[in-house]
Amino acid sequence: MAGPAHPRLAASLDRLGTETAFSVLARAKELERSGRDVIHLEIGEPDFETPAHIRAAAVAALDAGETHYCPSAGIPELREEAAAYLSRTRGVSVSPGRLLVGNGAKPFLFFTVLAVCNPGDEVVYPDPGFPIYESAVRWSGAVPVPLPLREERDFGFDPADLAARLTERTKLVILNSPQNPTGGVIGGGDLAETARLIARTRAWVLSDEVYGRLLYEGEFRSIASEPGMLDRTILLDGFSKTYAMTGWRCGFAAVPESLVDPLVRFFVNSTSCVPPFVQRAGVAALTGPQDAPAAMLAELRRRRDLIVAGLDALPGVSCRMPKGAFYAFPNVASVPLPAEELARRLLDEAGVALLAGSAFGPGGAANLRVSYASSIENLERALERMRAFLEPLVR
Ligand SMILES: Cc1ncc(COP(=O)(O)O)c(C=O)c1O
Repeated sequence: MAGPAHPRLAASLDRLGTETAFSVLARAKELERSGRDVIHLEIGEPDFETPAHIRAAAVAALDAGETHYCPSAGIPELREEAAAYLSRTRGVSVSPGRLLVGNGAKPFLFFTVLAVCNPGDEVVYPDPGFPIYESAVRWSGAVPVPLPLREERDFGFDPADLAARLTERTKLVILNSPQNPTGGVIGGGDLAETARLIARTRAWVLSDEVYGRLLYEGEFRSIASEPGMLDRTILLDGFSKTYAMTGWRCGFAAVPESLVDPLVRFFVNSTSCVPPFVQRAGVAALTGPQDAPAAMLAELRRRRDLIVAGLDALPGVSCRMPKGAFYAFPNVASVPLPAEELARRLLDEAGVALLAGSAFGPGGAANLRVSYASSIENLERALERMRAFLEPLVR
């Protein structure tokens, strides 16, 4: 008789995606352990320290004994401050009762999709885009409907493309501006047109605004401030990018009234709460001096200008000027290698870790994603290495 059957994994795991940045980071670390020098342009996190007054607030809270469970929706002080912050920065009016605090922005992406989608519902999301969107949509059994971003529009989408994708079955539209991986920003005219198109549907909107403060030109505008949008929009923000707090795992969102209880239930079922001392740090971030984010933005602008000019001058490469976030998305269609192979070989042979654009969807197949949240010196060295690699390949 055959032995006992081997325990099996869930079939649904086939539908769960991942974030390539973490696997490339692991490969880069492996190379470093074997003695290789690697320049890290793969992972999307600021290389700055979390500002001192924010760290001090967490330490004070720890010392004051804030080390226990706390409300799943967030501590009242952070809900109040974050509601005031979103109201102030987006020109909307959000009450603290609609403000939820989560373990980063990421859980809101997953739980929102799970809370609103039935199998067969359609979800429109940017392509290329943050890979967790598609992963969550597939996991829920909903139908992914990619919305192409157009390089010739500086990686904005054409509202006509959105119109063509909105149907009676559209349950959710995911927007992200400034955008990962392209650095694109949805312009004012397109935002208004997008709101008009969505207003004709019964779709929810998830507006991922985690890079809202990392904008190099103009004023940030949220779809939530367009007529009729606030009551159907999950307005998502967090501390990771703005305050260099990726490891703290704290994000927040203003959500429509009817989504408050369902999302809190997901938190109760999964993470229970965000550590209270982390939330105290969040209060300090929002209420304390804002010179650190301002200085970070100024430094990132210098780096953007350097890396974009440098990439654009490489053989076979052209690079648009991103308007926000800290990513460049150079086009490498003229390099005689598929972008995935190019990314792999740049890591293995040149010691430059970056991502193939296809990690963000088929729309990124001709591009690389370069995270320029790294020192000017590192960026200059990376450009030199890339030039040395590309010159013999591209004539
Ligand atoms: C577009 C986008 N949304 C959300 C996140 C997740 O942010 P958090 O660290 O707050 O979970 C990221 C992180 O890279 C991102 O790029």
